[in-house]
Amino acid sequence: MAEVVIVPDAASAGRLVADEIVRLVRANPATVLGLATGSTPLPVYEALPARLAGLDVSRLRGFALDEYVGLDVSHPESYRSVIDREVVEPLGLDPARVRVPSGALDGIEHAGDDYEEAILAAGGIDLQILGIGTDGHIGFNEPGSSFASLTRVKTLTQQTREDNARFFDSVDDVPMHCITQGLGTILRARHLVLLAFGEGKAEAVAGAVEGPVTASLPGSAIQLHPHATVVVDEAAASRLRFADYYRHSYAHKPAWQGL
Ligand code: F6R
Repeated sequence: MAEVVIVPDAASAGRLVADEIVRLVRANPATVLGLATGSTPLPVYEALPARLAGLDVSRLRGFALDEYVGLDVSHPESYRSVIDREVVEPLGLDPARVRVPSGALDGIEHAGDDYEEAILAAGGIDLQILGIGTDGHIGFNEPGSSFASLTRVKTLTQQTREDNARFFDSVDDVPMHCITQGLGTILRARHLVLLAFGEGKAEAVAGAVEGPVTASLPGSAIQLHPHATVVVDEAAASRLRFADYYRHSYAHKPAWQGL
């Protein structure tokens, strides 16, 4: 099962995951990162620039999890714009080495296959950062997504559109469709790091970590992965049945294991 790390707050989680990314980049400057968008990964992205300063990031690569379909890439809330603003520019990365699935309507029918090929050509993803939706989605794999799915177009649930309306003028402006790495794509990454903060995520986190493995809660796919780490604050951990064990186990974790 996933290793659960309960931290006091989102900033601590950001530092912990950023330290692990730095460890990877020191060992291999050509590390391939899987990048989530939304609010959850921001503490990681905020902690990274100072920690990566002085390291060679010219060979670092990134693959975003998902993109809205039909939203112009120049829109400030397109995930291309978000990744450029939050990751590429602050870290001084080469934008050509940080890919986001194409949500352009022209060519959308082969955009998923193109993205899968690009990930394979890069040698796969070393560390995949994940958030989780209140309905249990990871990437934009909404309930019912196949565990074998690869990058493809999905229809967002009304719940997800309402959750993401805060980034737009109204819920009606949130695109109906997205293109997202599949659960099968995500499960191929070598290390999954799922972050969640706040009471609103507690139920989804409990389902993903301790519930049955089911397509009805796509985040539960992480239970199938040999190296999955879940980093949560106390509020997001509040419905975990074995929280005391996770605290005990992390307190006694051998240092050589890393995150
Ligand atoms: C974003 C993504 C989504 C979000 C999830 C949580 O790339 O793939 O799974 O991680 O919707 O969003 P936030 O972090 O905004 O609560």
